[in-house]
Formats: sequence, C-alpha cells, structure tokens
Amino acid sequence: MVKSISVIGAGYVGLVTAACFAELGHRVTLLEIDGERLNALEQGVLPVHEPDLPELWQRHWAGGRLRLTSDYEQGLDGSEFVFIAVGTPSTRNGRPDLRWVRSAARGIAEAANGPIIVVNKSTVPVGTADLVAGIIARYKRSNHNFAVVSNPEFLREGLAVFDFLHPIRVVVGSADVNAAQAVAQLYEPLGCPIILCDARTAELSKYASNAFLAARISFINEIALLCDKLGVNVVDVARVVGMEPRCGDGYLGAGLGWGGSCLPKDVRGLIYMAASRGVSAPLIRSVLRVNLRQPRMVVAKLQKLLGSTKGKTVGILGLSFKPNSDDMREASSLSVISLLQEQGCRIKAYDPVAMKTAAKLMPTVTYCADAYEVAEGSDALILVTEWDEFKELDMRRISSSMNCPILIDGRNLYDPEQMIKAGFIYEGVGRGEISRKQPKAALVKHKIQLELEAVESIQS
Ligand SMILES: NC(=O)c1ccc[n+]([C@@H]2O[C@H](COP(=O)([O-])OP(=O)(O)OC[C@H]3O[C@@H](n4cnc5c(N)ncnc54)[C@H](O)[C@@H]3O)[C@@H](O)[C@H]2O)c1
Repeated sequence: MVKSISVIGAGYVGLVTAACFAELGHRVTLLEIDGERLNALEQGVLPVHEPDLPELWQRHWAGGRLRLTSDYEQGLDGSEFVFIAVGTPSTRNGRPDLRWVRSAARGIAEAANGPIIVVNKSTVPVGTADLVAGIIARYKRSNHNFAVVSNPEFLREGLAVFDFLHPIRVVVGSADVNAAQAVAQLYEPLGCPIILCDARTAELSKYASNAFLAARISFINEIALLCDKLGVNVVDVARVVGMEPRCGDGYLGAGLGWGGSCLPKDVRGLIYMAASRGVSAPLIRSVLRVNLRQPRMVVAKLQKLLGSTKGKTVGILGLSFKPNSDDMREASSLSVISLLQEQGCRIKAYDPVAMKTAAKLMPTVTYCADAYEVAEGSDALILVTEWDEFKELDMRRISSSMNCPILIDGRNLYDPEQMIKAGFIYEGVGRGEISRKQPKAALVKHKIQLELEAVESIQS
C-alpha cells in the first residue's frame, strides 16, 4: 500500500532513503534546512556524488512521487512516517553531537498535525530513542500519538542505492510493537531478514557493526606491519585468512586505514559511550590507535626512499575517503597531505569527483586534470584512493614522466611485479617481499641521485 513518508535531511542517507522509498512506490517529502542544498535539488542537481542516485532521483522527482521543502508543517502534512536522517558528527571528546537530532525532533513535535511514527535512521547513541520521545512529549502541539522507532542505516557510500534496495538485514527497534511492525512492513518488499528488537539494541548494534568493520581493517594493518618486517605479502595472508568461513573475507584490505563520515566517528562514539558507563574498551581504543598510525607509516615509507622530503613534489592519486564517493570527511588524503606539507613538500593531486570539496579543505594543493598531469615531474606518487580508473592507467607513461619514479601504493591496488616492470620503485603496505625484488639498478640510480643532491646542497 502506498504510504506518505517524510525524510528529514538531504544528505547521503536522507537522499537515498527518500529516492528508494519513492522507488518502492511511496509518496515521499524530503525536508532540508540548508537553503543551498535545497536550491540545488530544486534545479535537479544532487549535492552528493552517489552512483545510481541521479537517475532514481530524476525519475521520481519528474514523476511527482518526491517533493522537497524546508517547512516542517508542509513537510509533515499527512505523513504517516517521518525518518530522521540528519548528521551526528563527533564532538571533540568523541561524544556524538545530537543537536541536529534534537532540532529535528522538536520540529516534528511542533509541526505534526496527526499521528505519526518517528523513525530514527541517524546513527545515535543508546538512549536516543527515549531522548527523541521526551523532546516530542515536551513540545508537541497536538494530542495525537507519536511513536518512536530506531531503524539504523547500514548502507555503504558508493553503493548506497544498491545497499538500500538489497539490504542484508533491516533492524527495527521500539517499545511500540505496532509502530515497529508498521516500519518493518515498509521494508518487506525487499525480502531481507528484519530484526525486531528494542530501541537500545538497535542503537548499539549499529555502533558494534561499524566498530567491528574498523577492527578488521586495523587488525590486517597490524599484520601488514609485521609482513613488512618479515618479508611476507599481506595480500596473500589476508586471502588465506578470508577463505576461512569463521573469519570471512570482507574488510581485510591493508592500507592507509579507514576514514569517512561513519567509522571514525562511530568508533569514537562507542569509546565515549563505554567510558561514560565505566567500561574502558581497550580493544576498541586500539582499533582507533592503529588507524591513526597508518598515514604516518605510509609517509615514513616515502621518507625512507626519498631521503629528505623537503622541497619535493609529491603526487596524490585519489582524495575521497573511498572510491565512487565525493565524501572527504576524515579521508586519509587529509592526513597524508597535511603530514607531507608539514615536511615542506609541494602537493599535486587528482580525484575523479572529490576535487571541488577537497579544494575548500586544502586550498594550497595543486589540482590536476588527470593522473598523468599529477605524475609529470613529481618526485613520488602516493595512491590514496583506489578508484577503478587508476587500475587502467598507462603506468609506463606515468613512471617515465616522473622526476623520480617512486610509487607508494597506499591501498595495495597494483601488482608489485608489474609496477617494477613499468619502471617504478614500488612500495605497498605490508608487501615486504617486494623490496627484495626491486631491480637493484633502479634503487642504485635513485640513491646516486640522492647523493648528488646532498653534495650539491653542501656546495651551495
Ligand atoms: N553517510 C553514510 O554512509 C551513512 C551510512 C549509515 C548511517 N549514516 C548515518 O546517517 C546520518 C546522516 O548521515 P549523512 O552522511 O547522510 O549526513 P549528511 O551530513 O550528509 O546530511 C545531513 C543533512 O541533514 C540536514 N539537516 C541537519 N539538521 C536538519 C534539520 N533539523 N532539519 C532538516 N534537515 C537537517 C543537513 O543540512 C544535511 O543536508 C548520520 O547519523 C550518519 O552517521 C551515514
């Protein structure tokens, strides 16, 4: 049956939720308070890069199933469900900042003119369903029934539309069984398991899932460090581990570590939640610590090869926190570039979609038209985001245009032997066997150049 649904927040989650519920046949109103975002959307321009979303959005916007507004009364008029999908970033001490959730809850309370089910899709700490219910009870203007349901979102940026329409599971938590069942029914056409539970279980399971994913990556990064020392290839080790069904093969890619709008803030949020209940959570703290080490470790590899990095030009391939997304929130590129700039490096960079956002955050970087322009005259390249188009590059052309053909593969995207054949001095993360196989001539030539530079600097 067609339902009337409102979604609050036109970010990655809100836009996808709105477009996908429209795809499932419902009438959806998207409520957004940011005027710039709203204007862009009204002109058919999506404020985020997400594959498949533009087509879906365009279809249902043109077909009239999607509406947009900044006005809560208009946005909630006649709605049976309202999904809160606003941001919940970390504060300085890791506590999730709930100010946007609070203001959305108050907006709903003051504007809703009929019974409505309030569904929390934002990632929020345990107890937030009660907080939202309390705000609504305090500010509501009508005597209608408001139920609060927790329905955390598990989509991955870059695959968000696919994930929403093909979920592995949907979690619906509430003390109000009827409201929970009504929300569960919205997802029934998707044919996935639906877990009905209380709101606190739903809230914590989202944090636990994200912390576990982060833990897997930090774990393999710890193994990668050992691989570098022992001369073992972490990619082979991860393959062996991942073939074991008790382990599973996802999130075992060694590299620059995890970033983005979710894992870092949710790991910090979980640590904060634990600490505020007297639980020290040493394992989860280490997951974060290992991750903070990765950009420094990659930059140290470069220093080892280049000698002094001062005054060198370093090319960065990929800026967004992951491929197929323009999201720069807590992207590894930010830490890598900042470390290199502190050492006096000049930075050239290219990303297929994130350069506009990146330029606002890092105005002193030189942004290039493509990877070839980045490589031209650079003293080293660092692969930061594993976009598919970087797999297709003419690597011989790249290495021969560089001042010094050093390639630090921060995501283990490339085959080391092929890169060496293409003329690079190659370093991955945890691919310790490679340094033994590097053609001595390339390294010797490079070392001689370093020595010459050192002599020149003494003479001048
Ligand atoms: N991005 C992801 O991949 C992802 C995945 C799963 C869960 N989540 C969670 O979903 C939530 C939203 O994440 P996001 O990445 O979509 O956030 P976002 O920052 O991209 O978007 C949030 C939007 O909400 C709007 N907003 C804020 N307060 C509002 C209000 N009171 N009324 C109307 N609009 C308001 C903002 O202007 C912004 O457009 C977060 O809690 C996040 O942790 C995100």
